[in-house]
Amino acid sequence: MSQLPPVATEDFARNFRNALGMFATGITVVTMRTPAGEPIGLTVNSFNSVSLDPPLIVWSLSNDLPSRALFEACEYYAINVLAADQEAVSQRFASRLGDRFAGLGFDHGMGGAPLLHGCCARFECRNTTRHAGGDHTVFISEVVRFDRTPADPLVYFGGSYRYLVA
Ligand SMILES: Cc1cc2nc3c(=O)[nH]c(=O)nc-3n(C[C@H](O)[C@H](O)[C@H](O)COP(=O)(O)O)c2cc1C
Repeated sequence: MSQLPPVATEDFARNFRNALGMFATGITVVTMRTPAGEPIGLTVNSFNSVSLDPPLIVWSLSNDLPSRALFEACEYYAINVLAADQEAVSQRFASRLGDRFAGLGFDHGMGGAPLLHGCCARFECRNTTRHAGGDHTVFISEVVRFDRTPADPLVYFGGSYRYLVA
């Protein structure tokens, strides 16, 4: 009989991460505006659809991140689905270097959430429900507005950025 690997070892964590990486995803940047008026955002690939009626989406936010309290408290935030030529945007919103919005064009969505230019799709969400999910907080939110541009998406697979081949 095969044995399950022990949980909470370094091997388990690495293998688990590698196995999860076999699920190809798009890449999003989740944005909001703080009560002080500052735009914030981070790169997120845990985004997915939940329900058509009502229109619900899901994503999860690491409990370790300083921005967690701000996202939990905000009324609206935006999900920006990155296009194939926005790899640098994904890297920028996943690193701690400099002003993430410097030089980027964006519109102002509900609650002032930045809607980045050049994305495949943008969803404006009402911050309705949050659930504890281990070391992450799971946001399930109602989409109140969205738009879409016919562009190829940026893809993430096996820890690397990928591109669709026609
Ligand atoms: C491809 C990719 C996907 C990511 N997905 C998530 C995610 O779903 N949830 C999350 O909390 N962090 C995710 N991160 C990590 C955050 O983007 C990163 O920790 C970021 O620096 C957090 O922003 P902060 O420094 O402003 O807190 C991802 C990073 C990358 C490169």
